[in-house]
Amino acid sequence: MEKILIVGPASQILGVKIGKELGIPCINTETKTFPDGENYLRLNIDDETLIEGKEVIIVQSTGPSSNGNQNSRIFELFMMVDAVKRMGAKKIIAVIPYLAYARQDKIFRPGESQFANVILRMINSLRIDEIYVVDVHAPSVLKELILNKVVSIDSMKLLADHIKSLGARDIVVVSPDKGAVERSKAFAKHFGEDVQVEYFEKKRDVKTGDIVMQGQLKLKNKDVIIADDIIATGGTMATAIKLSKESGANRIYAVATHALLLEQARYRILEAGADDIIGTDSIDNEVSKVSLAKPIADYLK
Ligand code: R5P
Repeated sequence: MEKILIVGPASQILGVKIGKELGIPCINTETKTFPDGENYLRLNIDDETLIEGKEVIIVQSTGPSSNGNQNSRIFELFMMVDAVKRMGAKKIIAVIPYLAYARQDKIFRPGESQFANVILRMINSLRIDEIYVVDVHAPSVLKELILNKVVSIDSMKLLADHIKSLGARDIVVVSPDKGAVERSKAFAKHFGEDVQVEYFEKKRDVKTGDIVMQGQLKLKNKDVIIADDIIATGGTMATAIKLSKESGANRIYAVATHALLLEQARYRILEAGADDIIGTDSIDNEVSKVSLAKPIADYLK
């Protein structure tokens, strides 16, 4: 079946790169927000038969950025799916590197909605054939999906390869949170079997969102890689960096699959003492130093 790729407004760089890896044509979109706040999207095509009978790959991350918050990104995704379905797409594949709302996977306080599940049920209702996501915050939420194929891609090897190319030595992988230790252990294996993994104890106040982190680690003269799935406000990362510095760390790399870098995250992380911030192009920004295009394209081939 002939393939065509729709480059979503949130994944302009990644979408085009995946299209090039696959050697298939790309279609861009145009978007706007109506005066009443509603989203609008159309595919940039004059001839709708271009879509008919094709396998259509839609690439749209759903993280916030300067030109759209996650709600807009999700609605734009729904609009692209609906548009290609109406035009007669034979198969629809959604590549959603950052899955918004995945952190709302539990009830933290009485009265809340477990909204991650609702998002996935909404995705089910679109009748997409296949979905590809990357390092979802809580992969267990994916069991809510009832599609033909759900692929969860791991970016750890790519991130590790990039850090190795920077010449990091005497590496220790530090998890900013005990809950993320298993992930950090898997990450550390990409640097060698014996790479040390340490963690700080983090507690987040579920009412205010404030974090408290503790720990004194043995990091003297070590290059430290602090790895997390998401950097949002940078509070977690900046605190872990400060504690790592106090524990004697040499160079510090702040690494995340999804570097949303909200508010003053860049400043907080660098001011805390990070030598570099490294993310993937799940989120289009200046720290997207590692591209997910090849592994995603390999899965789609
Ligand atoms: C939380 O469990 C996540 O893994 C990240 O640690 C969190 O999203 C980071 O948020 P922030 O950058 O606002 O501290």
